[in-house]
Amino acid sequence: MISRLFLFASLLLPQLFVAQTKSAAPVTKSQFVENLLNQMTIDEKIGQLNLPSAGDIVTGAAQNADIASKIKNGLVGGLFNIKSVAKIKEIQSIAVQKSRLKIPLLFGMDVIHGYETTFPIPLGLSATFNLEAIERSARIAAIEASADGINWTFSPMVDISRDPRWGRISEGSGEDPYLGSKIAAAMVKGYQGSDLRDPRTILACVKHFALYGAPEAGREYNTVDMSRIRMYNDYFPPYKAAIDAGVATVMASFNEVDGVPATANKWLMTDVLRKQWGFNGFVVTDYTGINEMTEHGIGNLQTVSALALKAGVQMDMVGEGFINTLKKSLEEGKITQNDIDQAVRLILNAKYDLGLFEDPYKYCNEKRAKTEIFTPEHRAEAVKIAEESFVLLKNNNQVLPLNPKQRIALVGPLANNAVNMAGTWSVATKQERSITLIDGLRTFSSTITYAKGSNLDHDPAFEERATMFGKSLNRDSRTAEELIKEAIEISKNADVIVAALGESAEMSGESSSRTNLEIPLAQKELLRELKKLNKPIVLVLFTGRPLVLTEEIELADTILNVWFPGSEAGTAIANTLFGKSNPSGKLTATFPRNVGQVPIYYAAKNTGRPLGNKEGKFEKFKSNYLDVRNEPLFPFGYGLSYSTFEYKNISASKTAFKTNEEVEIRVDVKNSSKIDGSEVVQLYIRDVVGSVTRPLRELKGFQKIALKAGEAKTVTFKISTEDLKFYNSDLNFVAEPGTFEVYVGGNSDATLKVQIQLLP
Ligand code: BGC
Repeated sequence: MISRLFLFASLLLPQLFVAQTKSAAPVTKSQFVENLLNQMTIDEKIGQLNLPSAGDIVTGAAQNADIASKIKNGLVGGLFNIKSVAKIKEIQSIAVQKSRLKIPLLFGMDVIHGYETTFPIPLGLSATFNLEAIERSARIAAIEASADGINWTFSPMVDISRDPRWGRISEGSGEDPYLGSKIAAAMVKGYQGSDLRDPRTILACVKHFALYGAPEAGREYNTVDMSRIRMYNDYFPPYKAAIDAGVATVMASFNEVDGVPATANKWLMTDVLRKQWGFNGFVVTDYTGINEMTEHGIGNLQTVSALALKAGVQMDMVGEGFINTLKKSLEEGKITQNDIDQAVRLILNAKYDLGLFEDPYKYCNEKRAKTEIFTPEHRAEAVKIAEESFVLLKNNNQVLPLNPKQRIALVGPLANNAVNMAGTWSVATKQERSITLIDGLRTFSSTITYAKGSNLDHDPAFEERATMFGKSLNRDSRTAEELIKEAIEISKNADVIVAALGESAEMSGESSSRTNLEIPLAQKELLRELKKLNKPIVLVLFTGRPLVLTEEIELADTILNVWFPGSEAGTAIANTLFGKSNPSGKLTATFPRNVGQVPIYYAAKNTGRPLGNKEGKFEKFKSNYLDVRNEPLFPFGYGLSYSTFEYKNISASKTAFKTNEEVEIRVDVKNSSKIDGSEVVQLYIRDVVGSVTRPLRELKGFQKIALKAGEAKTVTFKISTEDLKFYNSDLNFVAEPGTFEVYVGGNSDATLKVQIQLLP
């Protein structure tokens, strides 16, 4: 390794090579980086901190573009959102052949839930409760991205969100810090593997640090205001888990934290991230995150750029605040040489860790690009993982699974559309190649009839906003009545109606906040009319967020929530509808009864005036509403199966235990049906008395188990003091002696309970 490094240094970094050959000792990373740093001019240093978007660069044109001349002048540290080995190789060659110090570039991309082989949106992935599967999805994404020239992904997105109005709830793992932390670590491991030098691994970037998922009113980019105790207990854990898992980079969030935008928030970026958590990679801003601080009202571009650098941010995405102002700030004494050097060091470290100095073209392997992307093996994995993400919300009279002999009428704006299947943030996906629902169903039955039935929404302007980035639903010019009439005609002769309804892919994701969480009226009206036919209705629900389904639960016999399943959507849904696969997904974000209940989440506090009845009856002067009961429509952890599972015999290995001991919780779970299936067995605790108020329940363990028809297993969980810890008023992470209730079951309403006691 060292010798190859010397070779590279001798060819591409002549000054450095001369300097290093004088001493015989091998070059360590820090020596290499310091030597390089010593060669750099101030402009070249600031250049390393610059991350332009290269979305508009095309092969051939790169040499002429402004970016190309900046690369030549050493004013670019990395680029993002360019796809293909040929283009990346060409641009890398400018850096390593034409720039003075020949420092290779990083190539980033939003590889969020797969590359060309696309997995379910992250909220769907989280519903699998299958950490190995999630890690595998990230592994495959890394293999494909790195085969196409990419060495850095802007993922995982781990922002906890308890507000489905916020469109980016689709990009995260839902509402729970425990589950979110496990998933964050699994994804980092999947992307980065155990060795970043392996050309099939890439740098991960945990985002958006911090608290981006809690904007006021669920409105994108809006103000966040939160107590520190809540930050530490509920919102920080997944970011910290990613750091603990060794994530190489962090992205700052757009929002403010404690009145200071995250991008300039020294407490966040230095005190928490580096001093408390020990992060030693680099922090990149979000897209123009520095410039936007002028709109936030904290200063002009020079001021906010200096604030960001001083706070502990190293790379400037797109805005060019750093390259345009840092030199001036240095001359004026507003920042120091050391501030800049430290930032450059961290970026050079990352390039070194990837092995780019040895081989800047290591991700530019044409053969890999041809053989490792969108392979049959990867696609087969994507089918399996998508199937595991589906959440069966209702299945009356066992309408599902379907029988291929049944006459099926397929209706709905999402039934015959490829480009919406992969969901939001799927930039590398070839959208038109995704498998549609109708194509999936036709592999099981040749007699399926189809009618669109409705447009996405009555309002064409809304539909346009909700189908951006080439994700058209091909708006039908017929009237709503004509569309419904056609759907009714084909449904009259059917045994069962499958209605593919819900959101379009771009109704969630960035800048897609909603104040109405229902299925658009045009689609509801279709469902209402179909209901009048008195036939079984299966609602295949596409969504990027928890929706309000109070009407649909009455209209449909069965609801299968499929989120946005990815490139293999149709295959996975059809396999599930026909029973080749049995749903096992569980909700990771609460589904409210109406938008007024939001924010709503299972790990709520009791309040001083909790409701005294379980039926949800209104009680005056209690914590409830006049017009809706408190419970959600579907709680966290909820999801049915074609199998049924019974829980009994909960027990604890000891009722009282000391700080250094563990308690085993055992429970018997039986598949009481005639169909093989999998169940996510969930363990929740309640800390009954604390120095601060504690949630009514907190997830502290889960196991996904497969049970054959009739099979029973004893499931064992271990609880240690670590699991009982929380941040107290002084923000110390402590476990307080006392009584803990432990619940085990198939969702967060689990009733099987045992008590344990942590001794002083
Ligand atoms: C998003 C980030 C993303 C970045 C780069 C921003 O708008 O907030 O999540 O990584 O763009 O594409």
